Amino acid sequence: MAVIIGFLGVGTVSTAVIHALCAAEDFESRIVLSPRTVQRSEELSVRYGQCARLGSNQEVVDAADIVVLSMRPQQMDEALAGLSFRKDQVIASFIAGSPPSVIADLVSPAKRIAQLIPLPAIEYGRGPLLICPKIPEVIEVFGSLGDVIVIDDETQIRVFSVASAFMSTYYQMQNTIIDWMTTRGVGESTAASYVLSELEGLATVGKATPVGRLVDLPAEHQTKGGLNERVRDHMASAGAFAALRAALDDVYDNARLRSPQAPTE
Ligand SMILES: NC(=O)c1ccc[n+]([C@@H]2O[C@H](COP(=O)([O-])OP(=O)(O)OC[C@H]3O[C@@H](n4cnc5c(N)ncnc54)[C@H](OP(=O)(O)O)[C@@H]3O)[C@@H](O)[C@H]2O)c1
Repeated sequence: MAVIIGFLGVGTVSTAVIHALCAAEDFESRIVLSPRTVQRSEELSVRYGQCARLGSNQEVVDAADIVVLSMRPQQMDEALAGLSFRKDQVIASFIAGSPPSVIADLVSPAKRIAQLIPLPAIEYGRGPLLICPKIPEVIEVFGSLGDVIVIDDETQIRVFSVASAFMSTYYQMQNTIIDWMTTRGVGESTAASYVLSELEGLATVGKATPVGRLVDLPAEHQTKGGLNERVRDHMASAGAFAALRAALDDVYDNARLRSPQAPTE
């Protein structure tokens, strides 16, 4: 399906998504870009024949079948104020913490609004892409950019947002192991190659395992009295897993997200 996708906000996430879209051999849609972030939008227009930088946000909205909102949350109200949307348009918002019901007044009379949560790996066409709710045109255009997870209940978006807040912790854990190896005399690049491949292998096994058997993976990856068991016991005794759960609860309960459930709105 060839459509015109308009990006309001050409920052980190939009750029990653645009690279991924344009890299697909069967991508036949056109992309129009808001002019504000001059260097990025010009680079994209020069690099991809399917991309064009337009003269204003309103020109982008006027041209688009699907309007992507990708400015920072605190920029959203100002960016959307005064723009005229159409009833027939689909809105795909990347803006964290602003589910469709929060966006609705700002993009009226457009009514078909989805929130998408792309993560950085989307640039490589990998990782999860949450879409809420299911809008066929959105799935058609963005569905090949990773593992699409569709939900219909927007109050659950907050849960997914919090689950994705593990990214920097993950990388710190990764780097802690690499760093530890270097202190034991292994060269940094050798240590990094080893750990990165180990983690990729674990993720591959995780994805290949039926959901009902995920619970078995820790035990399957340790030998009684072996090294893995000792590390896991040490982490559990130190409260690492309980702390992770508490951190997720804390962020869920206290993060300043503009969702219907947000107590600290
Ligand atoms: N980064 C992530 O991993 C991630 C993941 C999922 C969702 N998100 C969400 O995606 C959105 C974008 O995040 P990001 O990391 O890409 O932020 P970003 O790099 O700061 O990009 C936002 C872009 O929007 C532009 N902008 C601001 N006001 C505008 C306006 N009135 N008209 C047109 N463009 C405007 C900004 O320009 P200026 O720089 O000039 O202000 C900037 O280029 C955020 O709402 C974020 O919550 C991010």
